[in-house]
Amino acid sequence: MLTNTIDTAIMKELRMKWAKPKIEYIGDIAIIKPPFFNKINIDHIKSLANEVIEKQKSIKSVWLATSPVKGKEKTRDFIHIAGEKRSHTIYKEHGCLFKVDIRNVFITPRLSFEHLRVAYMVRENETIINMFAGVGLFSIIIAKKSKPFLVHSIDINPHAYKLMKENIALNKVEGIVIPYLGDAGDVIKEILQNSADRVLMPLPEIALEYLSYAILSIRKKGFIHIYLHVNSKKYQDPIEVARELLVNKLNEFKISYEIRGSRIVRSVGPRLYQVVLDVFTKKH
Ligand SMILES: C[S@@+](CC[C@H](N)C(=O)[O-])C[C@H]1O[C@@H](n2cnc3c(N)ncnc32)[C@H](O)[C@@H]1O
Repeated sequence: MLTNTIDTAIMKELRMKWAKPKIEYIGDIAIIKPPFFNKINIDHIKSLANEVIEKQKSIKSVWLATSPVKGKEKTRDFIHIAGEKRSHTIYKEHGCLFKVDIRNVFITPRLSFEHLRVAYMVRENETIINMFAGVGLFSIIIAKKSKPFLVHSIDINPHAYKLMKENIALNKVEGIVIPYLGDAGDVIKEILQNSADRVLMPLPEIALEYLSYAILSIRKKGFIHIYLHVNSKKYQDPIEVARELLVNKLNEFKISYEIRGSRIVRSVGPRLYQVVLDVFTKKH
């Protein structure tokens, strides 16, 4: 009886949490993210946007996200709500600068801790492949904070690739971060087989499908950081669910492996989590 009461209270709190519009800040742009299962009250959104512009002098432009992240390029639809009608800005993270265009590329400050966590795991002279690099956040932060030999940085979105190239120059990591435009699987098959000490797979939707390419790209041994979305039921640990998914997939390959780290990166919906698993793999 008591358990039921607690569950109802938690569900109510979760509904409240997901029902409020959230505001995310990217450089001098504010993004209002409404809950997508509720109707949008546009007058409320406009007054919220005007309040942001008036109270936060560093914010010059406010956009409303009108869709969740979608498509293979992981972008959203937006409408302009207040301030300058400009969707490009400079986003700062861990002392690095990133040119972004919120309408054409994936960008979120919610991966900030993860960018640094992975950067600090990198050992001197490692060759890294970032299979889903976006505008280069993981790659450039790794190049700045650690001493990798090379960071091969792949993205399929031409807008992300163009901005990644500009960000490599902006942060002076030319010759260390190498940009590629294309499908990560194709690039690995064509030029990066057996070349990496560490592979990053920050795209949960296709990470398991592309795991064979990550394994193909690893030298005799190396780390894979794989990001998964997991739906965990009541009383289930999202990390355990993610481990089971990954182990089932890893068992298809002729390798030995050890999951050496794991964490919940962020919640992405009610009972839906993004989880990262750090796997050490060894080819036979
Ligand atoms: C979640 S975003 C990456 C976020 C980025 N790593 C960061 O930290 O900001 C995923 C990226 O993968 C790219 N992508 C999608 N499918 C791809 C594929 N098959 N090969 C390479 N890149 C792909 C998308 O264009 C998108 O920029």
